[in-house]
Amino acid sequence: MSDLLAVENVTAGYAGNVVLEQVSLSLAPNATIALLGRNGVGKTTLLATIMGLTRIEAGQITFNGANLASVPTHRRAELGIGYVPQEREIFASLTVHENLKVATRSGEWTIDRIYQLFPPLDKRRGNFGNQLSGGEQQMLAVGRALVSNPKVLLLDEPFEGLAPVIVDQMVDALESIRRSSQLAMILVEHHAEMALEFAEKAVILDRGQVVWNGHCAELRDDPDKLGNLIGLEEEAER
Ligand SMILES: Nc1ncnc2c1ncn2[C@@H]1O[C@H](COP(=O)(O)OP(=O)(O)OP(=O)(O)O)[C@@H](O)[C@H]1O
Ligand SMILES: [Mg+2]
Repeated sequence: MSDLLAVENVTAGYAGNVVLEQVSLSLAPNATIALLGRNGVGKTTLLATIMGLTRIEAGQITFNGANLASVPTHRRAELGIGYVPQEREIFASLTVHENLKVATRSGEWTIDRIYQLFPPLDKRRGNFGNQLSGGEQQMLAVGRALVSNPKVLLLDEPFEGLAPVIVDQMVDALESIRRSSQLAMILVEHHAEMALEFAEKAVILDRGQVVWNGHCAELRDDPDKLGNLIGLEEEAER
């Protein structure tokens, strides 16, 4: 099956600061990749690069076979790349309903379906973005990406800072999204074990380079290898 998204030998970063070096990954339609690595290795930068928010020095990114080189960020979203950034970036001065409404494009994911997926948002539909709990904000951030009816969802640490019970709800929601839609995902997650359960394949970054790329099962079965790849910090957490 041909790739939905292909990052090929991409070197990219910010003005005067190259972060990613020769990074490649490919994502098949409906597939899920866990993007792992320690703090500051470039996970967010890679998602931002796919969205066109950084400076590419070399390499290319293709989506649905089209080279994204000259495609601006808003157009990438229109083409079907849904982005849930680490900072959530919902509109604080709009209500929940308005936040969803401005992001909506026609397709299977409607605002009503988002309310079914995340009942707490239904109860808060008149609340402003800055009147929501962390969990509700994250639900809204995912909801906003979904109502744009993307082909791929880029999720940057969607469980960060959430209470365990909300993390469970979010995992269930993402599982149900995956079951009901033809949706590929890249999940950046600090808790590697959770991400390895969720995804089929994993890509591990270290200092801006891909240091491992393969099936999650291989890492699930080999905690020492995982510990070596993502550092002592994670090893200590287990
Ligand atoms: N806007 C920016 N301008 C310049 N450098 C940046 C910018 N954002 C991030 N960096 C640098 O790029 C490197 C990678 O950061 P990035 O946020 O991509 O890492 P990360 O893997 O997502 O980390 P974390 O797990 O903490 O979220 C870091 O050295 C960081 O300081
Ligand atoms: Mg990050």
